Amino acid sequence: MIRNDGHDGAHLRDISRAAGIPIGCAVDVDVLRQSERYREVVRREFNMCVAENHFKAPWVWTGPETYDFSSTDYLADFAIKNDILLRGHALIWHSAIPSWLENGSFSKEEVRELLKRYIQALVGRYRGVVSTWDVVNEAIDDEGSCPWRDTFWLNTLGRGYIADAFRWAHEADPTAKLYYNDYEAEDLGPKSNSVYSLVRELLDDTVPIHGVGYQYHLIAGWRAGQHNRDCIQRIVDLGLEWQVTECDIRIQLEDADDVSEKRDAQAEGYWDVARLCRTLPRCEGLVMWGFTDAYSWIPGFRKGWGEALIFDEAYAPKPAYFALRSALCDHSVRSVAICI
Ligand code: G3I
Repeated sequence: MIRNDGHDGAHLRDISRAAGIPIGCAVDVDVLRQSERYREVVRREFNMCVAENHFKAPWVWTGPETYDFSSTDYLADFAIKNDILLRGHALIWHSAIPSWLENGSFSKEEVRELLKRYIQALVGRYRGVVSTWDVVNEAIDDEGSCPWRDTFWLNTLGRGYIADAFRWAHEADPTAKLYYNDYEAEDLGPKSNSVYSLVRELLDDTVPIHGVGYQYHLIAGWRAGQHNRDCIQRIVDLGLEWQVTECDIRIQLEDADDVSEKRDAQAEGYWDVARLCRTLPRCEGLVMWGFTDAYSWIPGFRKGWGEALIFDEAYAPKPAYFALRSALCDHSVRSVAICI
């Protein structure tokens, strides 16, 4: 049972900075604009953030060569003012294609040129501001068998779209770290094997890729094992870095006879994720997909599930918060002065 870990007064960002691992959350930019309480928690607890949606193409890419940067500028300004690292998510994702493009009658050549201009406009605008881009998100088939997911991008542009996107992004901002991001690739298996093959192929083609994002959308009861460590280590052995990019650990609420027991199981999962980050090399961030249960994608997309984050709907810290904070303190090596 993980309760208050004794680090009273220390906030996640203080401990993460001392531990050398940025800790972050996805933010709903609309809520960030409207709520001082929401902004205050982000400022107080996190030193990395990412837009849950507002950096995605449907929100920015309003027409073939027209863009709406109002929300992306707002978040960039917020991050700069509060010394928060900013992740850009995601330049290419099959679930976030503007309808005018997906339903348009553009040729392959036109789509490729428009995509290049979009990527270079967005990445170029935040040159030196966005530290890490999810250049391509979820391009691998869930079974890992194909292995490429059958998407508008693959069908329109062919397999070269991934390398193109990384090269265009690198041209626009050579200082940004460029990631491939995916879910359910956190364990050894067909899908993570395909992710490994993809990034190794990109490296062999001297494509400018710097890291792999592991989303870590989990279920309470999940615990890390050596297979998770091996899955990450083989990516690190390629010379790449890695981040946890979208962690949340959902609880089944339908038969929630004992939510406190499930919250403790959830806390153990967050502890394990943090320990992976703390004990494996090249971890460059631990980002959760939100921070309060008041704003989470889970209830709307996973019926009967919820309470996946580290603060409850009233913004009170849950056992998961204390577990995360304690796990970031490396008790074996007292390198983190504020860890007692
Ligand atoms: O803002 C509009 C609103 O104006 C409209 O009335 C409403 C009804 O259509 O839709 C609202 O937009 C929704 C948006 O979330 C904001 O709530 C979109 O329909 C909905 O599709 C969108 O879902 C997001 C989803 O990605 C698809 O983009 C989720 O919030 C977001 O958490 C989820 O995040 C993804 C990552 O990007 C990639 N990894 C998986 C993760 C979870 O699916």
